[in-house]
Amino acid sequence: MRTQVAIIGAGPSGLLLGALLAKAGIDAVIVEQRSAEYVLGRIRAGVLEQVTVDLLDGVGVGARMHREGLPHDGFDLCFGGARHRVDLLGLSGGKRVMVYGQTEVTRDLMDARQAAGLATVYDAADVSVHDLHTASPRVRYRTGDEVHEIACDFIAGCDGFHGVCRQSVPPGDLRTYEKVYPFGWLGVLSRTPPVSHELIYASSDRGFALCSMRSHTLSRYYVQCSLDDKVEQWSDARFWDELKRRLDATAAAALVTGPSIEKSIAPLRSFVAEPMRFGRLFLAGDAAHIVPPTGAKGLNLAATDVGYLGHALIEHYRDRSDEGIECYSERALARVWKAERFSWWMTSLLHRFPDTGEFGAKMQRAELEYLVGSHAAMASLAENYVGLPMVA
Ligand code: APR
Ligand code: PHB
Repeated sequence: MRTQVAIIGAGPSGLLLGALLAKAGIDAVIVEQRSAEYVLGRIRAGVLEQVTVDLLDGVGVGARMHREGLPHDGFDLCFGGARHRVDLLGLSGGKRVMVYGQTEVTRDLMDARQAAGLATVYDAADVSVHDLHTASPRVRYRTGDEVHEIACDFIAGCDGFHGVCRQSVPPGDLRTYEKVYPFGWLGVLSRTPPVSHELIYASSDRGFALCSMRSHTLSRYYVQCSLDDKVEQWSDARFWDELKRRLDATAAAALVTGPSIEKSIAPLRSFVAEPMRFGRLFLAGDAAHIVPPTGAKGLNLAATDVGYLGHALIEHYRDRSDEGIECYSERALARVWKAERFSWWMTSLLHRFPDTGEFGAKMQRAELEYLVGSHAAMASLAENYVGLPMVA
């Protein structure tokens, strides 16, 4: 088989890139190691920046998001038993975010791809990439006993943190930066109305907590937990009790509890691989970088990476210019590092670390008090939360 761009991975980055290329008439095949159902079974964050909304609208998959998604104009910071609103709309000069689950974004992109009859291979085993520094790189994979090969012009590594693409780059050509946080997030999904109409990010002596949502009837909550904790140790009753203890009294009293539909523990990590291009292989999304979920930047970074990459590939085929390809890594990384900083900062500010200590706790509290009392500091928080612009 031959195609122009072989995309590895059918997560949000791979699917959105596929949609951007299809719109420009560029031929692409997506190769995914899992089934579509498996990909849709993963629960991830759900706050979209305006640039992500625009990219989804641009490829014509925004209709359900605008119907069912919840535009949010602000969120609450909770500490010291009180809540303080961050007026995103007012502080950012009119920007808001869209609360719409990553699962739904993925489903919309998959449905549109299927309706357009675009090629996607699911359940591809032993995916490997070859000849990255030649004009005709290749992708190999197996379905059952059959081995397939795709010859292409470019390979887009959209295969997530554990994917094969980053691992196929010779170690000497790659520099990685990593910070592993000494705690995890225990997440619960429940068919209950959200405790508040906006998100609450809470910092307490007992650790961080987050109240989020997927709809008016579906809530997503998190509490900071130990990395040694097992999901089985967290009964629903224990989870709700712990969440309440980390919120202000009004929120704790208003919290509607119910059985969990999903419960899982996720570790927190900051990670960046540089550069994001090796010859004719590009890395995008989680394949190149990970942010801790505080601030919900992961999906948004994946979207803007492929925004840059799609643009670069369109320039290559339509305008015969490789400027975008040459600049892809630098452009994407400039935005990535700023989101890395913001996610790290929000994580550091709101969580209890094993070495936070009494002095550290005082510093966190002083920073939170400064933040909510300073228009400049709140404007900076809002500017980053709604998303920095995609600079060309
Ligand atoms: N071959 C083919 N596909 C692969 C391989 C492989 N060797 N390894 C992984 N994949 C697939 C995974 O099964 C997954 O469906 O690549 C896809 C990568 O998807 P994501 O992990 O969702 O990554 P990405 O599309 O970059 O989206 C980033 O996901 O983790 C969140 O917070 C992050 O929201 C952000 C988003
Ligand atoms: C979520 O809804 O899952 C969510 C929201 C905001 C975050 C992280 C996760 O910062």
